Amino acid sequence: MQAFVEGLPKVELHVHLEGTLEAEQLFEFAQRNGVDLPYATPAEVVAAYDFNDLPSFLAIYYKGMEVLHTEQDFYDLTMAYLTKAAAQNVRYVEPFFDPQPHTNRGVPFDTVINGIYRALQDGARDLGIESQLIMCFLRDLSAESAEQHLDHALRHKDKLIGVGLDSDEFNNPPRKFAAVFERARTEGFKLTMHCDVNQQNTQEHIREVLDLIQVDRIDHGINSLEDDRLIHDIRERGLGLTICPISNRFCVQNLTGNEIRRMLELGMKPTINSDDPAYFRGYMTENFQALADEHNYSRDELQQLAQNAIDVSWADTATKDRLGQELTAYCAA
Ligand code: HPA
Ligand code: ZN
Repeated sequence: MQAFVEGLPKVELHVHLEGTLEAEQLFEFAQRNGVDLPYATPAEVVAAYDFNDLPSFLAIYYKGMEVLHTEQDFYDLTMAYLTKAAAQNVRYVEPFFDPQPHTNRGVPFDTVINGIYRALQDGARDLGIESQLIMCFLRDLSAESAEQHLDHALRHKDKLIGVGLDSDEFNNPPRKFAAVFERARTEGFKLTMHCDVNQQNTQEHIREVLDLIQVDRIDHGINSLEDDRLIHDIRERGLGLTICPISNRFCVQNLTGNEIRRMLELGMKPTINSDDPAYFRGYMTENFQALADEHNYSRDELQQLAQNAIDVSWADTATKDRLGQELTAYCAA
């Protein structure tokens, strides 16, 4: 099973590039940029990762990314992720980035997106890993700030496929961003939003994401299983759900293996993703393997999860066909 999981050709649809910042690299960037760290070694950094819910994770995540200053930093961060992902047979990825925490501390938007995009291009050429980039707005910041960052994004339209929404969901409902997402859609961007696990008013938020925002995909969305009408509508619309098992284990103390299986049984389209793999210490292979080890997922189930990611990705039809053929051939062999 381990060899099967390692070799499985994978598609990743929910990974925050800032969440791929490994402790060793955090040290390198800090040194390079003259940032003082309150830790002596990378091991001490990891030892300080004491999160057990979304807010406690986010505090550490936003602190860590402060070592990123230059275009080269964003390039190196992205290239390191792509190198690891390619080694785990990730063939295609739609990564997120969070521009606002960077621009808010004086790093220009163009520095961030140009570094990331150059790495994505080099990754396609040198590692054979294709990608399309998604810009996320922080939901605990204002709608005006989101609008300003959409303006920035429009100067780089060719570098982006869509927009998303992340950060702390508490008291930050989807409707707060209805206007900016409407404008993003009009500009031709795909839309997705985080519906984090076990949030206050989660059902209401998922309903808004479906009917008011009219997303093209849902990030997380585990709690949709608690409402038959949500299940019905998500299935009818063929919306993918980007589930992050190891992340869920940190944020809600549950790998959510039963919930993912239930989604498969219901004919929904769950996919497996790493979210913030440096912090949760699990990339794609580890997430698939955890389901096999702890919930006895079969090869057929893992293949279905991998196929779902191809189906609900925003790749063009020719790319989807090619990815699907490779997956089918791999699983048949
Ligand atoms: N949820 C909300 N915000 C985030 C996440 C997440 O899973 N990862 C990084 N920022
Ligand atoms: Zn996320």
